Amino acid sequence: MSDVKIYDIKPDIAANAHITAETYKALYQRSIAEPEAFWAEQAELFLDWSKPWGKVTDCDFKTGHIRWFEGGKLNVSVNCVDRHLATRGDQVAIIWEGDNPAQDKKITYRQLHEQVCKFANVLKAQGVKKGDRVCIYLPMISEAAAVMLACTRIGAVHSIVFGGFSAESLKDRILDADCRFLVCADEGHRGGKIVPIKANVDEAAAACPCLEKVIVIKNTGSPVNWHEQRDVWYHEAMASASPDCPAEVMDAEDPLFILYTSGSTGKPKGVLHTTGGYLLYTAMTHKYVFDYHDGDIYWCTADIGWVTGHSYMIYGPLCNGATTLIFEGVPTYPDAGRFWQVVDKHQVNIFYTAPTAIRALMAQGDEFVERSSRSSLRILGSVGEPINPEAWEWYYHVVGDGRCPVMDTWWQTETGGILITPLPGAIALKPGSATLPFFGIKPEIMDNEGRIREGAAEGILVISRSWPGQMRTVYGDHQRFVDTYFKNYPGYYFTGDGARRDEDGYFWITGRVDDVINVSGHRMGTAEIESALVLHEHVAEAAVVGYPHDIKGQGIYAYVTLNVGIEPSEELRQELIDLVKKEIGPIAHPDIIQWAPGLPKTRSGKIMRRILRKVASNEIGTLGDTSTLADPSVVEDIIEHRANK
Ligand code: WT7
Repeated sequence: MSDVKIYDIKPDIAANAHITAETYKALYQRSIAEPEAFWAEQAELFLDWSKPWGKVTDCDFKTGHIRWFEGGKLNVSVNCVDRHLATRGDQVAIIWEGDNPAQDKKITYRQLHEQVCKFANVLKAQGVKKGDRVCIYLPMISEAAAVMLACTRIGAVHSIVFGGFSAESLKDRILDADCRFLVCADEGHRGGKIVPIKANVDEAAAACPCLEKVIVIKNTGSPVNWHEQRDVWYHEAMASASPDCPAEVMDAEDPLFILYTSGSTGKPKGVLHTTGGYLLYTAMTHKYVFDYHDGDIYWCTADIGWVTGHSYMIYGPLCNGATTLIFEGVPTYPDAGRFWQVVDKHQVNIFYTAPTAIRALMAQGDEFVERSSRSSLRILGSVGEPINPEAWEWYYHVVGDGRCPVMDTWWQTETGGILITPLPGAIALKPGSATLPFFGIKPEIMDNEGRIREGAAEGILVISRSWPGQMRTVYGDHQRFVDTYFKNYPGYYFTGDGARRDEDGYFWITGRVDDVINVSGHRMGTAEIESALVLHEHVAEAAVVGYPHDIKGQGIYAYVTLNVGIEPSEELRQELIDLVKKEIGPIAHPDIIQWAPGLPKTRSGKIMRRILRKVASNEIGTLGDTSTLADPSVVEDIIEHRANK
């Protein structure tokens, strides 16, 4: 490992940083040695509470009982908006940049406050009460933040569904969270194309008896189907809404939101986050990981439909009184220079994106970057999947001109916020490594037998104690929470990722160790895609694995066995792709479908995915032991007809 490059801490960044190498070490040690005192201090520092908490923390990894600051009272919208009015009411809270480069909008904290209060009153008028679940299915329009914050103002629990999910996926999520209310738009714009939002809602709603009211934001203005009893125009309801709405007093442990994410088995899980711990953890990580200072223009390119959009586009930055940029479009529209043009236009200082975007832009060549100045940039960030050193170096040297440290942030929907990451003024960088744990986080490397490994080691990444941003339960299924995260490695939170720790204690995330794949930073369960494929009448069986993909990180490789007498065809291939798109969404469409007369199985009938992964990655020299297969000849056929050679 001695050939790994190290980028030292930059003196100019360290000189101004909130956290330096010395303070990181001291504060980290204290956060581990005296967690209660440490977190209590931070909670005082970062949040406004209307009543102090009882116990700082009360957690048990056996029963999945996770509580922070219980008894403490606060309101998220007050912390993210109201409390900034006195000092920064006229500061821009949100810069919205349209898909169309000619469109943008600025919303000050005072304007945001009015929008939030008005929409909170609209929700109340429609019958939304504290604890009710409100589904949000929105494109990246400027109203999105106010809609989320309005929910928090009255104690409603939002469940955001990514606009790229299909009507079918939307339906599953509405039903699972038993949502009576939904907020959507007529349509969205993305990369010069139209996204049918309301039409998907209409289709989903037809199968959701629980859904009573749909509030529709007029965005493109195209005609939409209208259901008189159910649908309400946002602009009409807002016109008469009062801008005065007292904030609901919430307990630190009251639910804040549900966000669905894929696991290795079954349907997506509704990850539940609560109020106090989550807000503290996102605000604190936002400030320290990006070394955020007052006046900085901060841009996270994530969609609100993903946890990054929740934690680092909305809640963390607004809690810190930042100016946060919301971008409606895509990195390559109108051309591959769009990100950098937006950076210059709005003088962005901190830029946070995903490796898949970096790789896609890198493939387009440096000219698109060099057309822009990017001199406002100070800190770069990466999230969502492992960043390969080549992409890291390009990001650092070409985008950042070698001036801006790259924060490779490792975390998950379940963790609420960043757990393993560099800090700009405190931690030297190694391209491809997420480096060291954030305050209060104790990661461990474990072997397959459940033993903790010391020193330089590779294995399964687990976390040995709770942190305030940790998810609290799987909505409606606490047992699933316990079984998924705490059962197999008692006493630890199981991340699902593999990792290596080097001799300097730096962590290198090696990817998922379960049947979860990461396609362009979108997390998917292979089981979900398989379930969609076998819905087709001609499909007998399907097995889906990931394989290395230059741009997407992982591509989707499906092995499909057809029913006896059915011949493979291009038409059938297209039907299967369309079926997956319909069931899950365009993001899940298989890159490769290989017709397989049989799948490799053990004698007890279990599909040997290890072999399928190797064949998909063209690593046929290292298939490993195949002697336990029921029919070894199946493997020969699969190898012969593999797509990647
Ligand atoms: C999975 C979580 C974290 C918000 C976006 C994704 C992978 C995430 C990194 C990173 C290596 C990473 C992991 C993790 N992942 N960030 N910096 N380096 N891998 O959230 O959809 O819940 O996915 O994304 O495999 O388990 P998510």
